[in-house]
Amino acid sequence: MIIAVDGPLASGKGTIAKALARHFGLPHLDTGSLYRATAVAVIDAAIDPADEAAAAAAARALDVTAIDETRIRTADAGAMASRVAALPAVRAALYELQRDFAEQAGGAILDGRDIGTVICPDAGVKLYVTANAETRADRRWRELTAKGDPISYETVLAQTRERDARDTERADAPMRPADDATLLDTSSLSIDAAIAAAIQIVENARKA
Ligand code: CDP
Ligand code: CDP
Repeated sequence: MIIAVDGPLASGKGTIAKALARHFGLPHLDTGSLYRATAVAVIDAAIDPADEAAAAAAARALDVTAIDETRIRTADAGAMASRVAALPAVRAALYELQRDFAEQAGGAILDGRDIGTVICPDAGVKLYVTANAETRADRRWRELTAKGDPISYETVLAQTRERDARDTERADAPMRPADDATLLDTSSLSIDAAIAAAIQIVENARKA
């Protein structure tokens, strides 16, 4: 069973994907971490994000066993991630890795932006998790503030809108629900309620 979980920033897709992985005993890949790690490599090597070949080389050179979880979660890494993610050569460089993960015997859960549409159009269950921009920005602002980042809510909201627009409008693998995805709006759901709803959607899809 392959489960695809897509959605915009701070919609709750990561939390839901992790909970589904625990519940159904499946391995989980946060594909955003690959784009974030590429972004950190691009920043560290002072690569111009307009230099598609150099950014793709950074993606190919990633050591996925040595991703610095703290560094990739900064607001700057997120912003750069959506810039490098718009480059087709970067997406191509990360395709095989994601596909191999999805094809493990026994199944897998992947979360990202294009799992249901591009990486795993064959997924048995596709979830598209959403929430309104203000709620998502508030969630992300709280996370960053808890880590000591002095960023303002207004800045996070502006970054949220900018990243949504870039991810939706890019030509290659734009963020969108697959035609056969089930939508889950978490705007007014607690984490537990969102997880329970997601488990129900997977159970229903397996029965169908
Ligand atoms: O956690 P958050 O939703 O903030 O972002 P993420 O999932 O870590 O992804 C960071 C960026 O990587 C996104 O804004 C996308 O531009 C890109 N991404 C993508 O293009 N395709 C994916 N499958 C996953 C992430
Ligand atoms: O992976 P994604 O960026 O979509 O979001 P996440 O990391 O799962 O969730 C972002 C933040 O929102 C986390 O701090 C979650 O605890 C919180 N959250 C929430 O408050 N209510 C929900 N229903 C889901 C997530």
